[in-house]
Amino acid sequence: MRQLRVLALVNEDLVPPETMEGKSDKEIDEWKTEYDVITTLREMGHQVEVLGLSDDLTPIRESIRRRKPHVAFNLLEEFHGVVTYDQAIVSYLELMRQPYTGCNPRGMLISKDKALSKKIFSFHRIPSPRFTVFPLGRKVVRPKKLHFPIFVKSVIDDASLGISQASVVYDDRELAERVTFVHEHTLADALAEEYVDGRELYVGIVGNDRLQTLPIWELHFTKSEVPLIATRKVKWDRNYQEKLGVKTELAQGLAPEIEKQVTRICRRVYKALDLSGYARMDLRMGQDGKVYVLEANANPNLAFGEDFAESAEKAGLSYEDLLSKIIGLGMRYRAPWKN
Ligand SMILES: Nc1ncnc2c1ncn2[C@@H]1O[C@H](COP(=O)(O)OP(=O)(O)O)[C@@H](O)[C@H]1O
Ligand SMILES: [Mg+2]
Repeated sequence: MRQLRVLALVNEDLVPPETMEGKSDKEIDEWKTEYDVITTLREMGHQVEVLGLSDDLTPIRESIRRRKPHVAFNLLEEFHGVVTYDQAIVSYLELMRQPYTGCNPRGMLISKDKALSKKIFSFHRIPSPRFTVFPLGRKVVRPKKLHFPIFVKSVIDDASLGISQASVVYDDRELAERVTFVHEHTLADALAEEYVDGRELYVGIVGNDRLQTLPIWELHFTKSEVPLIATRKVKWDRNYQEKLGVKTELAQGLAPEIEKQVTRICRRVYKALDLSGYARMDLRMGQDGKVYVLEANANPNLAFGEDFAESAEKAGLSYEDLLSKIIGLGMRYRAPWKN
C-alpha cells in the first residue's frame, strides 16, 4: 500500500505514549488498541497524526484543512463523555467530505441501540432472544410472553457495563431489582431478554458491499463452572480472567451446516443494520443448538491479539493486512457526498 496521511482520532485520555516501556499492564490495557493501531500504521510507513479529542470539533476541522488526510482512522469511543456521540463525529467527517475507517453514521446509530437492532432483526426473521424494554423511570411490568430466566442489560451501553452474574434473573422481584440497577447505573433504558444458556460465539465481518466473514470465535472459561457470561470483570479484570481461565479461540466442533448458518445469519445482520467497514456479531447457541444474535458491534476492538484481529489472522489476514483492508474500505466507502 502506498504511504498515506492518516488522521488517527482517539479519546483525549487514550492518546498512547511513544513506547510501552515502563508501563504497567493496567496502564497498557487503557490505550493498547490505540497504541497497536498507531504504531503499526507508522511501521507500515504511513504518516499518522494523532488527535486526542474530548468535546471540541475544531482540531478535526483544522487538521483536515491543513493536512488533507487521505483517511481518518476512527478509534473514538465517545465524545463529550457520551458513548452514542461517536456516531455524530462520523457524521461530521462526512459533512467535511473526509473519508474515514469503520462504520457509517447510520449503521452506528442503529447498532448502538440494542432494542432498535432487535426490532429490525424481527422484520428480517433474524433469530434473537425474545425481549422487552423497560424505559427509565417507568414501572416494571413483565409481558406474559417473556419467560424466565431473563437477562437484563442497558439498551445502549457496551463493554458489558452493568453486566455481572446477577444480570440473570429468575422471578419478578429479581427482575424489578435488576432493571432498577441498570437504570441507576447506566442511566439508560433497560433491555430484558430471555437468557440463552449455552455457547458464546463471536463473528467478525469486514467489508462494505462484498463481505469477508472471519472464522467463528468462541469464549470459554477453562477453570471455572460459573455460568458463561461475558461480564464486565470477564472482559476487563486480568486477575479474574486468570482465575476463570478465560480463553477465546476458533470455535471447535461446529457441524458444517451450523457454521454455514451462523455465517449466513451474521451477513444478514450486517446488511440489515447497514453496517460498513468492519463489525463483530455476538451470538449465543442454546443447549438445543439454536443460534441467537445478541448484538452487532460496529468498530469492534482492534487491539493486536484480541478476538477480532486473532480471527482475521486465522483467515490469513495479518494485523498489517487487516489495518490496510480497513483503510482501503474506508477510502472506497460510497458516502453520499461522493455522488
Ligand atoms: N440473552 C442473553 N443470554 C445469555 N447471555 C447473554 C444475553 N445477553 C447478554 N448476555 C451475556 O452478556 C454479554 C454482554 O452482552 P451484550 O449484549 O453483548 O452487550 P455488550 O454490548 O455489553 O457486549 C454477552 O457477551 C453474553 O455473555
Ligand atoms: Mg457484546
